[in-house]
Amino acid sequence: MLWASFAFALLSTPLVNGLPDISRRDSSHGNFQAVCNQIASKVSNASQVFPPSAPQYTADNQHEFFSATQASTCSVEPGSVEDVSVILKIVGRTRTPFAVKGGGHTGNPGFSSTPGVQIAMTRFNAVNVNADAGTVVVGSGLTWDNVYERLSPFNLTVAGGRIPGVGVSGLLLGGGYSYIANQRGLGIDNVVSYDLVLPNGTFKKVTADDEDLWFGLRGIVTQFTLKSFPQGEVWGGIVTWGTDQLEASIKAIAKFATVTDPKAAILTTYAYISGDVLTTTSVFYDGPVPAPGVFDDFLTIPAIQSNLSTRSFADLVKSQISTTIPSDVRGLYCAFGPTAYSASYINDSVNEVIFWGRELTKLDPKVQILAGIEPFTSGLLSHGTPSAYPPDRSQIYFPSGVALTWSNSSLDQVMAQSVRQAADDLQAAALREGQNVTNAVVYPNYSLFDTPLEAMYGDNVERLQELKRTVDPGNVMNLAGGFRF
Ligand SMILES: *[C@@H]1O[C@H](CO)[C@@H](O)[C@H](O)[C@H]1NC(C)=O
Ligand SMILES: *[C@@H]1O[C@H](CO)[C@@H](O)[C@H](O)[C@H]1NC(C)=O
Ligand SMILES: *[C@@H]1O[C@H](CO)[C@@H](O)[C@H](O)[C@H]1NC(C)=O
Ligand SMILES: *[C@@H]1O[C@H](CO)[C@@H](O)[C@H](O)[C@H]1NC(C)=O
Ligand SMILES: *[C@@H]1O[C@H](CO)[C@@H](O)[C@H](O)[C@H]1NC(C)=O
Ligand SMILES: *[C@@H]1O[C@H](CO)[C@@H](O)[C@H](O)[C@H]1NC(C)=O
Ligand SMILES: *[C@@H]1O[C@H](CO)[C@@H](O)[C@H](O)[C@H]1NC(C)=O
Ligand SMILES: *[C@@H]1O[C@H](CO)[C@@H](O)[C@H](O)[C@H]1NC(C)=O
Repeated sequence: MLWASFAFALLSTPLVNGLPDISRRDSSHGNFQAVCNQIASKVSNASQVFPPSAPQYTADNQHEFFSATQASTCSVEPGSVEDVSVILKIVGRTRTPFAVKGGGHTGNPGFSSTPGVQIAMTRFNAVNVNADAGTVVVGSGLTWDNVYERLSPFNLTVAGGRIPGVGVSGLLLGGGYSYIANQRGLGIDNVVSYDLVLPNGTFKKVTADDEDLWFGLRGIVTQFTLKSFPQGEVWGGIVTWGTDQLEASIKAIAKFATVTDPKAAILTTYAYISGDVLTTTSVFYDGPVPAPGVFDDFLTIPAIQSNLSTRSFADLVKSQISTTIPSDVRGLYCAFGPTAYSASYINDSVNEVIFWGRELTKLDPKVQILAGIEPFTSGLLSHGTPSAYPPDRSQIYFPSGVALTWSNSSLDQVMAQSVRQAADDLQAAALREGQNVTNAVVYPNYSLFDTPLEAMYGDNVERLQELKRTVDPGNVMNLAGGFRF
């Protein structure tokens, strides 16, 4: 994910305080309580429904960004596939808005939050290694840092998130970039099967044989079976450079973007914070010692903080967090898709961040804005078969995004327009640079709520809409958030 920056890494700590003041007594919400009661009476003892006074309710509704959290009428933690089916049938029949939360990392309000029934997948938390099959079954309620931790004793890993707090389901349903993406492909390329509850409540184990559902899932996933890979010690960590090193930083990152060693990966963010521009880079090498030369700049440019070392995969991911965050942070991100990261293009990104940082800080002194630079090697998309995203595997559009955080809720709309404008400017800058980006594809997991489907799914949109009509004729999934087909 994008949040490896000094500023934004902070946001991965769960929010602990209260919820936004969204009235549950709105007349249109009148029947939600009755639906909650009905669910409570119909599910087995493996599952539980929680009222707003319960601590579990707070956890179930909590999101990375305060602005993506809503006060649901109740939350429910299903503990079995049967109960997921029961719940889905009830909300579908009563036309009750609901949300499904895995990790809660989305910035888009309403995508995994609701005034109705909040379904939290936390009880689906299995990590079961099948050594013979070379697979591992992973529950949809987990975050990747937990998964890596539990795979560590087996010396195994899977293709998942890069920083703590990123949920298993969102990343896999959105595509899924990882530290091993150059070597193994996207998250979706490494799924063996999905345990899916269809919109009508029917359970189905979806494999590549189910051509259409495999291509574009509809429903609620309870667990994923993933390919596992042997994983030894790795080298890396996190490095932050200050404003005084900006020129060196831009050169170093542009140089790294030309590296062809698939074992090397970085995720860099340029963040404007109170007049400073910090470069924060998550550094990864798949081996105990990096290949000579690849990371020299990261060791020699004077850093504000740096801890590159040999460690376990799980430890490297865990080390991507530095501090705790204030609980009132609001945030959004918006995607763009360049095909190359030249020094001048990275400089454009830095200038864009500085421009918006200065403008928006005038409105809210707590504003922080960053642009992500995520280079991958040319084999990235060669590991999988056709999928909804990316719609065209012959061309890599790097998964780039602008992230913006603030604190004043009166500014939500201004901030949404600004993050959109900044990302659009950077897409336009890529075109000006001569990049072939007229049909640029952007990464769904960095996309703002107003992103047109075509920008993420290209020519696949029609097929996905057809699939939606077939598998969800009752429009049950429209009661939940997310991009609408
Ligand atoms: C849940 O119900 C099952 C079957 O009715 C019973 O065997 C089990 O002990 C119950 N578990 C709890 C925690 O109450
Ligand atoms: C994992 O790797 C370590 C270090 O190489 C080794 O000592 C240990 O036996 C391995 N564990 C398993 C389960 O293979
Ligand atoms: C990633 O994309 C999937 C599919 O659209 C979505 O369910 C999930 O909420 C997204 N997560 C983030 C962090 O954007
Ligand atoms: C690496 O630095 C980060 C940020 O300062 C810190 O949270 C983490 O504990 C450090 N890890 C190690 C192994 O020193
Ligand atoms: C980056 O942009 C700034 C501001 O426009 C300019 O002064 C500087 O020369 C540029 N640096 C590079 C390496 O392009
Ligand atoms: C929040 O923003 C609004 C709209 O710009 C402004 O009127 C208000 O004073 C701001 N509140 C704070 C606490 O700065
Ligand atoms: C530009 O990209 C499109 C795909 O969007 C591709 O069909 C076309 O061949 C590319 N043009 C060049 C000159 O590479
Ligand atoms: C549920 O939907 C699936 C997928 O469209 C369909 O195959 C199945 O027959 C449906 N089941 C019921 C009971 O309607």
